[in-house]
Amino acid sequence: MDLIIKNGTIVTAKESYIADIAVKDGKIVNIGINLTDDGAKVIDATGKLVLPGAIDAHTHLNMPFGGTVSADSYLAGTRAAACGGVTTVFDYPVQRKGSGIMETINGKKEICEKEACVDYAFHCCITDLNGGAILDEFKDAVANGITSFKCFFVYKKEGMMVDDGTFVKILLRAKEVGAMTNVHAENPDLIDMNTEKFLKEGKTSAWYHYLSRPEFVEAEADKRAVHWAKSVNAPVYIVHMADKEGLEAAIAAKEDGAEIYIETCPQYLEFTCDVYKREDGRNFVCSPPMKGKESQDALWKAIKTGAIDTVATDHCPFQSYEKDWGKDDFTKIPNGCAGVENLYPYMLSAATDGKITYNRVVELCSTNPAKIFGCTKKGSLAIGKDADIVIYDPTKDFTISVKNMHSDYDHTIWEGKTVHGYPVQTYVRGKLVFDNGNFVGEPGYGQFIKREPRK
Ligand code: URP
Ligand code: ZN
Ligand code: ZN
Repeated sequence: MDLIIKNGTIVTAKESYIADIAVKDGKIVNIGINLTDDGAKVIDATGKLVLPGAIDAHTHLNMPFGGTVSADSYLAGTRAAACGGVTTVFDYPVQRKGSGIMETINGKKEICEKEACVDYAFHCCITDLNGGAILDEFKDAVANGITSFKCFFVYKKEGMMVDDGTFVKILLRAKEVGAMTNVHAENPDLIDMNTEKFLKEGKTSAWYHYLSRPEFVEAEADKRAVHWAKSVNAPVYIVHMADKEGLEAAIAAKEDGAEIYIETCPQYLEFTCDVYKREDGRNFVCSPPMKGKESQDALWKAIKTGAIDTVATDHCPFQSYEKDWGKDDFTKIPNGCAGVENLYPYMLSAATDGKITYNRVVELCSTNPAKIFGCTKKGSLAIGKDADIVIYDPTKDFTISVKNMHSDYDHTIWEGKTVHGYPVQTYVRGKLVFDNGNFVGEPGYGQFIKREPRK
């Protein structure tokens, strides 16, 4: 035995109970009462929760976007992940016209082999079918553990948008090869129309970022994604859901038996569109934007009822000077915000505050993403699973500041937010990577997670 975590309250998606966990060679090998230590390192977790590491199923590390590159490298982003109790990240490399899927993924994999501090998997964003060759490559990608492909309904000018025909081709082919189609749903034509109008009228503050893509602009696209998925009977995973109308349509389709998965993000649960009226509103600019209180309430309701499947971050930070490009023109603000280090603490704090259960947080942030995306060794604390473990102190308050984060960005939308409870240790496959406020992991330790195809 290498490690025994004793007397903690083990939390899974289904239950909570006091027990010891034994780890050997990076795996959980035993769970029980009064396990003998056999010379293993012993950690006393009395009074603490012992949780499966979170899986952040949505990050954009080192991503060329918005006229620059997102501020966190794979090293910085996964270092921050470790310090927030995230033991696996799913990043989104972007396939471009003329490039193949594995060519795109392999470039990122090479960087991660040197830099990743936690385990990693990739969804591949598809922006061009290369005359159909990309659809042919899906099978090979799945055989290589890439079992999800993302479509953007937006970012037309950036050359990333796919039209409905392409989306449906992807839905069908993904289903055929055992993969999932993820979608960023907003209506690009409405966004362009609104943006043009506002710029003409000299309405250029961050508030007009929100008004150019308000609730109904997202809702149309959510409904369209649901409509196509339902019509061709293929699974779809809607990323960063932020609006009530689209959410309710997706939930209704799920209740009708369609295979639809819904992800939301902490920023939509915490902030409303009012942030765009602030002097620093540009720092909150992401797409889709934060919405009104009604949408936020609907998201929380769906978190509570179980209708939302996952919470992930869409971590895509930019530096202040880059956000400042859009001080006088919201269209020049690179879209995206930080979050990977805040996901688990934020959601667990909601449990500490009694809003939801710890079990539900584990389900949303670990068990469900593992299941939906085919990470068979992750997502729970059980014998045979990877020893991705977070020890969490529910009594420790923590006030988030850019000064106590472990990324490379210079500001955070979470500045000043106090969470109730905080991770004290994170283990990735049995190795300690975060210890009481300090990163103690190692770049290059993270492993690529080759995922299983969907049945
Ligand atoms: O504003 C965002 N979300 N930036 C990252 C790219 C995306 O749309 O997910
Ligand atoms: Zn997106
Ligand atoms: Zn994203």
